[in-house]
Amino acid sequence: IGPPAVSTGRLPASGAVAGLVQAAWERYGPVTEGKVADYIPMLAEASPDWFGLCVAGVDGVVQTAGDADRPFSIQSISKPFVFALVCQALGGGRARESVGVNATGLAFNSVMAIELNPGRTMNPMVNAGAIATTSLVPGRDPAAKWRFLLDGMSAFAGRRLTMDEAVYASEAATNQRNQGIARLLHSYGRMYCDPDEATDLYTRQCAISVTARDLAVMGATLADGGVNPLTRERVLDADRCKRVLAVMATAGLYEQSGDWLYEVGLPGKSGVSGGLVTIAPGKGGLGTFSPPLDEAGNSVRGQLATRFLSERLGLNLF
Ligand code: DON
Repeated sequence: IGPPAVSTGRLPASGAVAGLVQAAWERYGPVTEGKVADYIPMLAEASPDWFGLCVAGVDGVVQTAGDADRPFSIQSISKPFVFALVCQALGGGRARESVGVNATGLAFNSVMAIELNPGRTMNPMVNAGAIATTSLVPGRDPAAKWRFLLDGMSAFAGRRLTMDEAVYASEAATNQRNQGIARLLHSYGRMYCDPDEATDLYTRQCAISVTARDLAVMGATLADGGVNPLTRERVLDADRCKRVLAVMATAGLYEQSGDWLYEVGLPGKSGVSGGLVTIAPGKGGLGTFSPPLDEAGNSVRGQLATRFLSERLGLNLF
């Protein structure tokens, strides 16, 4: 990876960041390991060659390389942001009581994680906890809840986001497992609205279209205690923001969260379409996009590039 940078309270000068973002892109571009997800049929259409990187500082300065403006569905990276919005609406205490904040050590779509923990979800970063979180979204009806989600996610990105209808339709036709998880949770009294409604909203939130640049800005908002670096809007209170970073550190990369923290030393969240967001608190956000995934469903090149940038930019928290 090369010489680690000394960690300071801020990102290095923008020229140095730009050079390292480009260097990471060139260094890991040739990597061909990993497999594009196909259990959601539309995701199989992605090219394994797409590779985009972005770093956004809390000062709003943005550096990109490669396919940083290519849209893809956010998938599981919606989880921390929806958890953030629910914490903001209900308070971090109620969110924790309702969905749990401990590690599962199991796959993102694990049913066993529910059964091993007396019928309750363990963490909002895996499907069960995320669907439970979505079932807490405030609103009179599904349309109002969806508006709350899309408005909130857009505030994190600093621009109006939209949902990819084709990805939504593709997942809605094939998400029997998530429907099963929601109904199982319902049977244990751990769903906070109708389980089918929660699964549908969750499927919609996963189909929101973003870019690596958006992910970096959304991450920089969490890095700055909840203030968007582009719009300066406060999206989230600082005391709730740190709760979101805690659950990301605990389970953001599923059963590989410990390895990730050991190597990168930052809260992160992956998605099955190949996105990855990482937060350097007080400094900025990193957004990467590369569809080929490892066994746990985490982007191979995204992890490599982020590890490189964490080292070279001196971001590791430990
Ligand atoms: O619920 C699902 O299976 C997808 N909408 C999201 C899963 C996901 O992104 C897991 N990520 N690595």
